[in-house]
Amino acid sequence: MEQSEVDPEVLAEERDYEAALRPKRLVEFEGQPRVREQLGLVLDAAKHRGSTPDHVLLSGPPGLGKTTLAMIIAAELGTGLRISSGPAIQHAGDLAAILSGLDEGDVLFLDEIHRLSRPAEEMLYLAMEDFRVDVIVGKGPGATAIPIDLPPFTLVGATTRAGMLPGPLRDRFGFTAQLDFYDPADLAGIVAASAGKLGIRIDEQAEGEIARRSRGTPRIANRLLRRVRDFAQVRGHATAHRDVARAALELYEVDERGLDRLDRSVLDALCKLFDGGPVGLSTLALSVGEEIETVSEVAEPFLIREGLLVRTPRGRVATRAAYRHLGIRPPATMPALFDDVE
Ligand SMILES: Nc1ncnc2c1ncn2[C@@H]1O[C@H](COP(=O)(O)OP(=O)(O)OP(=O)(O)O)[C@@H](O)[C@H]1O
Ligand SMILES: [Mg+2]
Repeated sequence: MEQSEVDPEVLAEERDYEAALRPKRLVEFEGQPRVREQLGLVLDAAKHRGSTPDHVLLSGPPGLGKTTLAMIIAAELGTGLRISSGPAIQHAGDLAAILSGLDEGDVLFLDEIHRLSRPAEEMLYLAMEDFRVDVIVGKGPGATAIPIDLPPFTLVGATTRAGMLPGPLRDRFGFTAQLDFYDPADLAGIVAASAGKLGIRIDEQAEGEIARRSRGTPRIANRLLRRVRDFAQVRGHATAHRDVARAALELYEVDERGLDRLDRSVLDALCKLFDGGPVGLSTLALSVGEEIETVSEVAEPFLIREGLLVRTPRGRVATRAAYRHLGIRPPATMPALFDDVE
């Protein structure tokens, strides 16, 4: 969506940066204590038995560590890792080729597993359950299914939309790890670890500044760290102190709560142009000069999570907290929210 406008070289650089910062083992994975403990147990038990662990589903919003965990699983098991994704598998045949190329014990990571095609999904059911695929040869009434045995493997699926997974697929995972947004203390730990890997000198207060503005998301924390590093380098600060971090983030228009320019312009329009709403999504998007999807999928989820904006059947509504955040006085009567909040 937004990314299509970004220079491919910039995207590649971003990917390399992310890859360099990925923790390689479970002990380096910060935060998410419950998931870490549960997953650690699943892996240890399998190693203990000398068998392959149950299939694992990783679910949660973007940038919280799903791909990182998939790689950690293979590293902890000491096995091979094959990577593909729902959208990359067009036909069931593509999946059959991947599955039949697996070695015993391999981890197969399928990203965006909610976007698999129906025939591929059905093939996956059998593969997950019986380690078998039926390859159909021929067409129509003469078609025959040739069963092919697969070596035992572990499927690791990742999805940002667990709700879109069909029940039968979800049920075939022995373990589901639900990743949640990180608290600032964990994010500060991630910033510190990343700074260490990159040789960036940064103090604890600056780490805290970045952590607080990262929307509970490690990917954003690492991205903001990069902005702070650039700023410190160019302006000649040997160590990124709190004020350096603040000035850098201000320059890039990331405010104390982690709102960026898009978020603020949406809130601004909602409060100032539409008196707090309710206003329809398309009108709101038009007034800030953005695509509808950009507003509803990029800005809104965070604004809603922060309690700054509410979706109601009649349109978007600003909360009192939104006015407070913008530093403007709320209207005397606020729209009633309680009866129509989703
Ligand atoms: N718990 C963590 N500890 C340290 N770094 C983390 C952690 N979780 C994520 N990261 C870092 O955040 C970045 C994004 O993580 P990752 O790519 O695993 O997210 P994702 O959930 O797969 O996102 P998407 O849904 O967009 O694919 C990576 O650079 C990774 O190193
Ligand atoms: Mg990922």
